[in-house]
Amino acid sequence: MRFPEDVPELRDDLITLRAHTPADAEDVYELCQDPEMQRWTVIPVPYTQDDAAFFLTNLVPNGWREEHGTRHWAIEVDGRFSGSVSLHGGEGGVGEIGFSVGPWVRGRGVMTRAAKLAIRHAFDDLGWSRVIWRAFVGNWASRRVAWKAGFRGLVVVPGGGLARGVRYDEWVATVGRDDELEPQGNWWQVPELEGDGIRLRAPRLTDAQRVMEACSDERTQYWLAGLPSPYELHHAEGFITSRQESRASGEGVSWVIVDAGTDEVIGNVSVFAMLNRMDKGHGEIGYWMHPAGRGKSVMTKAVRLVIEHAFTPIEQGGLGRRRLVLLAAVDNTASAHVAEANGFHRVGVTRAAAPGREGRWDDDYVFDLLAGDPRP
Ligand SMILES: CC(C)(COP(=O)(O)OP(=O)(O)OC[C@H]1O[C@@H](n2cnc3c(N)ncnc32)[C@H](O)[C@@H]1OP(=O)(O)O)[C@@H](O)C(=O)NCCC(=O)NCCS
Repeated sequence: MRFPEDVPELRDDLITLRAHTPADAEDVYELCQDPEMQRWTVIPVPYTQDDAAFFLTNLVPNGWREEHGTRHWAIEVDGRFSGSVSLHGGEGGVGEIGFSVGPWVRGRGVMTRAAKLAIRHAFDDLGWSRVIWRAFVGNWASRRVAWKAGFRGLVVVPGGGLARGVRYDEWVATVGRDDELEPQGNWWQVPELEGDGIRLRAPRLTDAQRVMEACSDERTQYWLAGLPSPYELHHAEGFITSRQESRASGEGVSWVIVDAGTDEVIGNVSVFAMLNRMDKGHGEIGYWMHPAGRGKSVMTKAVRLVIEHAFTPIEQGGLGRRRLVLLAAVDNTASAHVAEANGFHRVGVTRAAAPGREGRWDDDYVFDLLAGDPRP
């Protein structure tokens, strides 16, 4: 192909994908100074004016001229160069997408629009059957774009990514020609829940010390014997950072209960097991309380707020659950009380189901609650 003459212009009502020009150099340079850009892509660091010129006069034109080279488009928004999207490869009908946009347009859906235009072009005009997206693990903005553009089947490839001689774990997902370019599955938000003097919010890394205290407490360790023992700060940090994955995959949502005055963590409530194959409306509730918060009915009230949210339809910002279950060891009177005070039905005992201390397995009471059940 000839550059720039043969570069097709692709557009929607906000953005235009067009051929790069040498006049984009200043904006390319500015984009590549951005820390996110340097952290998550393979550009040279430090990035110089010469690197921008080389990209525009060498890499981009040559990419178009080669048979399965990289086709880079400039993304133009409001008349300004705002980023690039590329299609790379395509042999045998499969190739990769790459993208970046300037901080000056982020968060407006620009990248999602550009990705969809490029993907449609790959399928409809280039005859590709599949597009691959790859990102270093932790690049949540990129993952969110991929999710919004319909990528699916996400896997982690340990050490699959390479930037400037360093290997990184990598996310990989794909979208096929017949797939809808729309999100697959739920990516949960964690709204703040408040009521009855209780406040629940998303956990933050600064909560790790309190989480560690709560989870290394003797009583928590006794009833939640599956927790690491001893439970150390890095376990708490791992728990908090893993919440993002849980939300993004649709598996679960966790809140911390905080003291309304000090914002200190006094407990945790989660709705999890939401990826149940047979029942898309299933969820399980789990919780623990920091010793400082016990004995004041706080958990009963917190679970009440979470139940309301879990049964609220997805279109109204809730979790759209149809049925919640809750398990509590048969001797764990305090936990069973939280369930029953919230209208859960005790439906039976599941035997030797929960890890107990010293290698034994404990029986659990099974509680359930349907969306239509009366609640106190
Ligand atoms: C990734 C990138 C292209 C996204 O551009 P963008 O124009 O902001 O993308 P969009 O607005 O279409 O979508 C971004 C989404 O990510 C969300 N997001 C941003 N940062 C996030 C984070 N840390 N955690 C979770 N979501 C995040 C935004 O809220 C938005 O979702 P929403 O529309 O549902 O609110 C941009 O951040 C970028 O250029 N980063 C540096 C280069 C890069 O990482 N390229 C990809 C390499 S694989």
